[in-house]
Amino acid sequence: MKFTIQTTVLAVVVVTVLGCTAARQDKKKLYTDTEKLPIDRKVDSVLALMRLEEKVGQMNQYNGFWDFTGPAPTGGLAAQKYDHIKKGLVGAMLNVRGVKDVKALQKIAVEETRLGIPLLFGFDVVHGYKTVSPIPLAEAASWDMEAIKKSAEIAAAEAAAAGLNWTFAPMVDVTRDARWGRVMEGSGEDPYLGSQIAIARVKGFQGNLTEFNLAACIKHFAGYGFSESGRDYNTVDISNNTLHNIILPPFKAAEEAGALTFMNSFNELEGIPATGNHYLQRDILKGEWNFKGFVVSDWGSLAEMIPHGYAKDLKEAAMHAANAGSDMDMESYGYVQHLAELVKEGKVKEEVIDDAVRRILKVKFLLGLFDNPYKYCDEAREKAITGKKEFHDGVLDMAKKSIVLLKNENNILPLAKQGKKIAVIGALANDKTSPLGSWRIGADDNTAVSVMEGLKQYKGNELVYAKGADVTVGKTVFVSETKINTTDKSGFNEAVKAAENADIVIMVLGEHGLQSGEGRSRSELGLPGVQQELLETVYKANPNVVLVLTNGRPLVIPWAAKNIPAIIEAWHLGIQSGNAIAQVLYGDYNPGGKLPMSFPRTVGQLPLYYNHKNTGRPESNEPESVFWSHYTDVENTPLYPFGYGLSYTTFQYSNLKLNKNSFGKGGSITVSVDVKNTGKISGREVVQLYIRDLTASVTRPVKELKGFEVAELKPGETETISFTINEKSIEFYTANNIWEAEAGEFKVFVGGSSDKTLESGFNYTK
Ligand code: BGC
Repeated sequence: MKFTIQTTVLAVVVVTVLGCTAARQDKKKLYTDTEKLPIDRKVDSVLALMRLEEKVGQMNQYNGFWDFTGPAPTGGLAAQKYDHIKKGLVGAMLNVRGVKDVKALQKIAVEETRLGIPLLFGFDVVHGYKTVSPIPLAEAASWDMEAIKKSAEIAAAEAAAAGLNWTFAPMVDVTRDARWGRVMEGSGEDPYLGSQIAIARVKGFQGNLTEFNLAACIKHFAGYGFSESGRDYNTVDISNNTLHNIILPPFKAAEEAGALTFMNSFNELEGIPATGNHYLQRDILKGEWNFKGFVVSDWGSLAEMIPHGYAKDLKEAAMHAANAGSDMDMESYGYVQHLAELVKEGKVKEEVIDDAVRRILKVKFLLGLFDNPYKYCDEAREKAITGKKEFHDGVLDMAKKSIVLLKNENNILPLAKQGKKIAVIGALANDKTSPLGSWRIGADDNTAVSVMEGLKQYKGNELVYAKGADVTVGKTVFVSETKINTTDKSGFNEAVKAAENADIVIMVLGEHGLQSGEGRSRSELGLPGVQQELLETVYKANPNVVLVLTNGRPLVIPWAAKNIPAIIEAWHLGIQSGNAIAQVLYGDYNPGGKLPMSFPRTVGQLPLYYNHKNTGRPESNEPESVFWSHYTDVENTPLYPFGYGLSYTTFQYSNLKLNKNSFGKGGSITVSVDVKNTGKISGREVVQLYIRDLTASVTRPVKELKGFEVAELKPGETETISFTINEKSIEFYTANNIWEAEAGEFKVFVGGSSDKTLESGFNYTK
């Protein structure tokens, strides 16, 4: 008996060793031959070696949370994950970072599994890794595609040096409702601007897929930004028209720019959760658009199809997700537990699995992981690159370009550099964590340059700081707003005193960096806590107030807009925040940012966006009538519109010209305008082109951005800026359910803001 067992054990060991050797030989054959074979052949040759369970394993992504470089975990989920990696049942990890940890896990995947397929390491590198850049919404305000691309390049280089090879960014959700905390992650309310930024970010992150780049992940596919009433994870109910004309364009642009992966989303669309949505993933993305990369689920979104009421259990959820084209399961454990069984039962075809695995392996090949699984694991590079001066210079440049000057009455800004007494008020002025914003999970607290630190570098003035009121956050990022705000006004007196004795008061108020972001929807968008009261109290003591807003979304600030002479929108500007703000306040940098999202007068106006429809009752000729599309208690217009932003100089627009008044198939029109710097200093103006399609097979927005150009002008200088309008500019998703240009009459608008434009018109004849 004893003998038999020993023989059996021995036999198993021999078979296993032989099996491993055979596989290793196959691996060797494959991996050293990589240059000669086209990628799809390489992918197929790996696939041919794989068992069903291993294929399913590639479709499984785990969050890491044990000490990878320590002893193997025993018991619980960590042990299970560890065991799964060893068995080749995991294709990707997330939130494992730093060369040491990544290398330790990659080693298990490469050296201890039967086939040695390398892992992907994903992380939310949303706006920088350690050297945090401005939040994406802030970067969007720069309208500077080169700077945005550069910012993504910096983020990628630093994160890739920390072992990562995949970022869950950019988020390209169009956002119209500032109550949604995740507006900070996107590019605002416009599909055209959003598309240009999506392209810049994909190119910046991915570059040529060297060891300084990351695979991008376009998210959240699709409709997540349209959650009802801005409440995160809420139901989405939108028309096909809105889906195609407003939501999808940035996704398509990112796909065309070569993004390697997509992430689906938590929301439902037409009653079907995005993760199980065949129309989105198979018909549109992989069908119409011919996307060749893979789709990862959002965190746990596969399992969330159960509470959505779309799957009765995890097994059914796995079936729906796989069949609908969701290739990788992030942290739902649905695929790893049920997919092989579903294939055996005939509920998911093995072709579906093969297709998903091919896509995942292809990305791994493209990233060069089969040639060198440790491509991103160079400790010396990690040390040399992290926090490089060049990165800081890049994010400082981005931060300055992201600032929007909202108001500057009587040229109170820029500040004089000598002989003034300046009171700086607000807890956020002295905060070195808040400027990092939300989604900066690779960064360390207390690493940002605070506004106070930035201002202190200008030594000619006297600075006095008073906190006024707290805007505090607990240690964890999972804080609720009630915990963030205090009602304590005991610091008001000190603030008033400081203001009374000062020539100028700089108040830094707004949201803490962690008051926006995922799960941070708000129903009120004023200055949180007692900050509004603090502002009004200080203003009474000294009205020479410069308000520096820090926030992750448009805020509702009608009182400040009316009373405070100067307002600067400084968002959450990242690690160089204080330097950027100080340079703008002192005029060493002339701000030129423009809002990528409308600022409402009141929350009641939301959702609010410039590219709205005209409605059947846009206005009334009778002054007393109420029967038109409006509110009886507030204007329809925003407080600050899309595209708005001032400068320390002024610009004048004139001579709007079209080289002809109509064009036909294959043709185009050139629009030109003269922009003059009419002020006393050099400045940067974002010249914006909008069109309106007056009558169409489906109703069209009153204005749609179709181009923008940056004019850098010296005082007195004039530049003629030109745009081309062609069929691409006027195409839309028509009543025929295709993208096409329809013949008709169009208006064209050019200006420095969506609400202040010169106007002309043209015809398109088919
Ligand atoms: C978010 C994604 C993110 C993922 C992984 C989810 O909660 O919705 O945007 O990439 O977590 O961190």
